[in-house]
Amino acid sequence: MFQQKKPEQALRVEEVPSHIAIIMDGNGRWAEKRGMSRSEGHKKGIETIVQVVESASEASVEQLTLYAFSTENWKRPKSEVETILRLPVEFLKTYLPRLMAENVRLHVIGDIRPLPVYTRQALKYAIDRTKNNDGLQLNFALNYGSRNEMVEAVKELYREVQEGKLSLSELNEEHLSKHLYTSGLEDPDLLIRTGGEKRLSNFLLWQLAYTEFWFSDVLWPDFSNQDFASALEDFGKRKRRYGAV
Ligand code: FPP
Repeated sequence: MFQQKKPEQALRVEEVPSHIAIIMDGNGRWAEKRGMSRSEGHKKGIETIVQVVESASEASVEQLTLYAFSTENWKRPKSEVETILRLPVEFLKTYLPRLMAENVRLHVIGDIRPLPVYTRQALKYAIDRTKNNDGLQLNFALNYGSRNEMVEAVKELYREVQEGKLSLSELNEEHLSKHLYTSGLEDPDLLIRTGGEKRLSNFLLWQLAYTEFWFSDVLWPDFSNQDFASALEDFGKRKRRYGAV
């Protein structure tokens, strides 16, 4: 998509967000509007993932974090949960060679222990295969919940204080960040939410403190390269002050 732009329209590298996080909302509605099952909407959503990964790579985005399954999503009908948790398997079966060709490194954030063994195995295999790639890092947020992530971090810090490894007066933001699933990742520069809702749904609450938000009414399966380009273009115009003037 960026290759098609005239040079004067292309984003300068310093305007490209290093880390983009996306809440991929609207799969269910996309399917229901077509008389299809919600699961079909999630399957269609995979195609958008493939396209966005490619666009993000082309734009030299360094990190892309996709909210694929939240800790609250277990409340959905069993068959829908099963479909979503099988999608990483199908996605990787079809697209791992493409991720390799595009030099993408796969990473997961969230508590993957309760996920089915087939999901964990597919992820483990792909993470291992892509570990030496140094292009875009693709982070799947699976069984991820921000509040739970923070509670777990606080428990670990409490243990460290109790064991005398850390003093309460030293404890700072960096310590907490290091105990989150996102340890080692930069905070997102841009958050995109598709599907028309304007909420965070327990996604990266700590990490989004200074992130720029971009909301779209477009349902995730319809989210196009042009929509992604619009988000990046809008980001390029933002003035980030981080609380300063
Ligand atoms: C939100 O739409 C979407 C999800 C809860 C699941 C998103 C998952 C994928 C797109 C696939 C994940 C695949 C991989 C490879 C990690 P919704 O169902 O809430 O839509 P609605 O708001 O229209 O009901």
